[in-house]
Amino acid sequence: MKRGNSESPSTSAGPPQSKFKHNPEGDGQFLEDESTKIFARKVAEHYSARTNQTLEEREASPIIHLKKLNNWIKSVLVQLYTRRGDAVLDLACGKGGDLIKWDKAKIGYYVGIDIAEGSIEDCRTRYNGDADHHQRRKKFSFPARLICGDCFEVRLDKVLADDAPFDICSCQFAMHYSWSTEARARRALANVSALLRPGGTFIGTMPDANVIIKKLRGADELEFGNNVYWIRFDEEFSEKKFKSSQPFGIKYKFHLEDAVDCPEWIVPFHVFKSLAEEYDLELVFVKNSHEFVREYMKKPEYVELMRRLGALGDGNQDHSTLSPEEWEVAYLYLAFVLRKRGQPDRTQSNARRDKGQMYIGKEDIMNISEE
Ligand SMILES: C[S@@+](CC[C@H](N)C(=O)[O-])C[C@H]1O[C@@H](n2cnc3c(N)ncnc32)[C@H](O)[C@@H]1O
Repeated sequence: MKRGNSESPSTSAGPPQSKFKHNPEGDGQFLEDESTKIFARKVAEHYSARTNQTLEEREASPIIHLKKLNNWIKSVLVQLYTRRGDAVLDLACGKGGDLIKWDKAKIGYYVGIDIAEGSIEDCRTRYNGDADHHQRRKKFSFPARLICGDCFEVRLDKVLADDAPFDICSCQFAMHYSWSTEARARRALANVSALLRPGGTFIGTMPDANVIIKKLRGADELEFGNNVYWIRFDEEFSEKKFKSSQPFGIKYKFHLEDAVDCPEWIVPFHVFKSLAEEYDLELVFVKNSHEFVREYMKKPEYVELMRRLGALGDGNQDHSTLSPEEWEVAYLYLAFVLRKRGQPDRTQSNARRDKGQMYIGKEDIMNISEE
């Protein structure tokens, strides 16, 4: 799947060329681009409309333990790969739900990007510490920048030329929104690769295509789920067969109670892995969430973290825990770690922290939408 030119993918965020022929007709390409934008907008509007919850509302959520479990998985990834002082790029940062994790890891600089204006605004107030959030906390100890825009469409190497290189790039529960077209998937990986330093780490979580396709094939119809989620494929996939030559644009509708209700795309992991390799990103590991939990719950420090986060109850008086339905949703996801090829350059200083601020005003949020 090597591209037909000699330019290193990591130095180029250029247009896609590969053996995948998702939309060979020229006219179709235009239509595809338009519908892709419409879907990206739908996703943005869905997340923008989700308002912050009070502590009481959050605790009453039917998927509260799943949310806590996902926070535990993300915290483990952050703790495993982050070092004090690291510069972090958080792609699709949402409302800044991971800011506390980064603070605990004592990072030195943070850039968060999200397509949903409402989420970036929530992230801004959470960072400033003046949000009406449940956590009463001191201010964060690292300078930050927030950007609003489509990080699977825009060339971020240009936007963040003065901030790079980053030590860590994180994309949590969002990479699948790039898989609507090959061009977007490539843009996503080109952005990560161009901004990470050699030896830098890309951590993330996304749906596990193998599990979703297995469940689809096991279902009578084109829909399956339980009382907290459902997934529905369109009639065009009625045969439940997927051509290996067309691994992009396999759309389904995902509904998760109190969390998600929008179009998503299947990410065949072997394609993700080989495309990432083209962009100098090598797989360190991939684990389904169930496997991830089994493995890291063998380590006392992460058992203690799980107890504190409360996903499996507090291990004491509190016997509340993940429901079987929530555990089934956890199975729909995987965690991955990739490493940018090359040796770290010890003489090169980290990202430019002076671009960041300790208080972010509304006017400080940079908008990078292309229209
Ligand atoms: C499930 S939320 C995860 C948010 C956050 N990463 C977390 O783990 O809490 C998915 C996020 O992806 C963002 N997103 C989706 N498509 C995006 C795009 N093209 N560019 C930037 N953000 C995007 C959404 O706005 C939403 O905030």
